[in-house]
Amino acid sequence: MIKKCLFPAAGYGTRFLPATKAIPKEMLPIVNKPLIQYGVEEAIEAGIDTMAIITGRGKRAIEDHFDISYELEHQIKGTSKEYLLEEIRSLINSCTFTYTRQKEMKGLGHAVLTGEVLIGNEPFAVILADDLCEGENEGVLKQMIELYKKYRCSIVAVMEVEKEHIHKYGVVETKNLEDDVYIVSNMIEKPKSEEAPSNLAVIGRYILTPDIFEILKETKPGAGGEIQLTDALKTQAQNSMVLAYKFKGKRFDCGSVEGFVEATNYFYNKFLGNN
Ligand code: UTP
Repeated sequence: MIKKCLFPAAGYGTRFLPATKAIPKEMLPIVNKPLIQYGVEEAIEAGIDTMAIITGRGKRAIEDHFDISYELEHQIKGTSKEYLLEEIRSLINSCTFTYTRQKEMKGLGHAVLTGEVLIGNEPFAVILADDLCEGENEGVLKQMIELYKKYRCSIVAVMEVEKEHIHKYGVVETKNLEDDVYIVSNMIEKPKSEEAPSNLAVIGRYILTPDIFEILKETKPGAGGEIQLTDALKTQAQNSMVLAYKFKGKRFDCGSVEGFVEATNYFYNKFLGNN
């Protein structure tokens, strides 16, 4: 089944400057855990055992986070604080981490293509760690993998977005297939609100079949001069089938200051046991 999850994490995170000048956006903490750790936990819950991370210059903190720190282990051993490392220790032991660097930041589509060497010829999941998701009864990726088992094609997670915000997203045009599941007939990256084909916006969770790599190789730069995953998915939707899945749960855009603060409040309440 789906055993690998790609984490494109090479972006500059300009919306969060100056915080992201020397720290990867994916390492910003929500309460006491970096964003990317939430993503890895979601992938593990979905049965994934290999995390394939696309990094870039200035992103070494991600590799260090998912590795043992001998000095720290030595310092903390036998003290009352040892329990603070238990969660990350068990996470590190429960999966494999692989990395490759995107040398030039040419967009999300290019980052996914850079991951081909880590994924190979098999279907895989993609998590954009700055989209922090909490599924209703089960994680969003787990919900999507269940759907993949039925239809065996690429799937994008979507949510309803108000018209005034739709220009920030990839937007799908669809036909209804079953409850909360749609067949994608067209996709547009960051449309003007009056040109958006629907109010269903793509968020940072995908299941992709490996033919996406060949399509990405042929995909020309699109919106913002970047190679857009949305454009490649549009081609895939025309060649075969791509589904949009309205997931059950919440999503926080932690690449923006507002979303980050909202997530912090939400997860802090949870941390205190109020949610
Ligand atoms: P974003 O659109 O959020 O871009 O990328 P960004 O650079 O991270 O942030 P801003 O807009 O400048 O604030 C969506 C995802 O794709 C990854 C990012 O790391 C993020 O997870 N990405 C984007 C890459 O890995 N490489 C790229 O060239 C572009």
